[in-house]
Amino acid sequence: MTTILKLGGSVITEKDRPETVDHETLEMLGATIAEHDVADLCIVHGGGSFGHHHAAAHGVSQTAGTTDPAAVRDITNAMKRLNTAVVDVLVDHGVPGVPIHPFSGARRTESGELSACTEPLEDMLAAGFVPVCHGDVIAQAGVGATILSGDEIVCSYASALDATRVGLCSAVSGVLDGSEVIPLIESFDDVAHVLGESEATDVTGGMAGKVASLLELETDAFVFGVDGVDGFLSGDSPGTKIAHDPNR
Ligand code: IPE
Repeated sequence: MTTILKLGGSVITEKDRPETVDHETLEMLGATIAEHDVADLCIVHGGGSFGHHHAAAHGVSQTAGTTDPAAVRDITNAMKRLNTAVVDVLVDHGVPGVPIHPFSGARRTESGELSACTEPLEDMLAAGFVPVCHGDVIAQAGVGATILSGDEIVCSYASALDATRVGLCSAVSGVLDGSEVIPLIESFDDVAHVLGESEATDVTGGMAGKVASLLELETDAFVFGVDGVDGFLSGDSPGTKIAHDPNR
């Protein structure tokens, strides 16, 4: 009955100010999460002004790799600082959070496929911990190191753990058509006109990438704003539901 909740980087950091945590929002999220049963909850967070800032400065992306060890250290150490801030807030609210750092436990194959070691995660959940993982830089065979997004981790963990609920807390209230939240997405074709077809091939970038990868999951997923976290953890369907299609 594992639940995976991703906290978007733009939700928990001030995206335009390098390495700045949005303490007010993070506190609120910590308090909200602490009000729920956190057994079998795994949290993933994005990079926001910690990861993206350093990744851009070093010209590293999900496809453009680096062999510069200083670039790797800058990115992964910044993400560790953000991860510590997230874990600390959860712990302050009584949530048994523990850190997981992908750089040491995940890799990409030469073709870019993610391979993440999930046994420790299973043991952590069984022990009653709330693992808190994050987007990071990871080694890629034949390339050096590339960026791993939090969304990629969510999808990888969701399959490995047979997650029953997957939620992405983003800076907007769901997948939007103009200013309206789309309540249900059952296929990419339903929303291609809104999200832009061309982005669909970029399976990790932007909202189109999120939707394309969440549609591949074996479970329903939800995209919602900060005010949707309480409902999501209560078993409701906030924001946009991205439905699992049993015939897929
Ligand atoms: C980015 O992760 C990780 C790094 C840049 C190191 P995400 O792509 O999931 O981050 P957000 O949620 O968009 O900020």
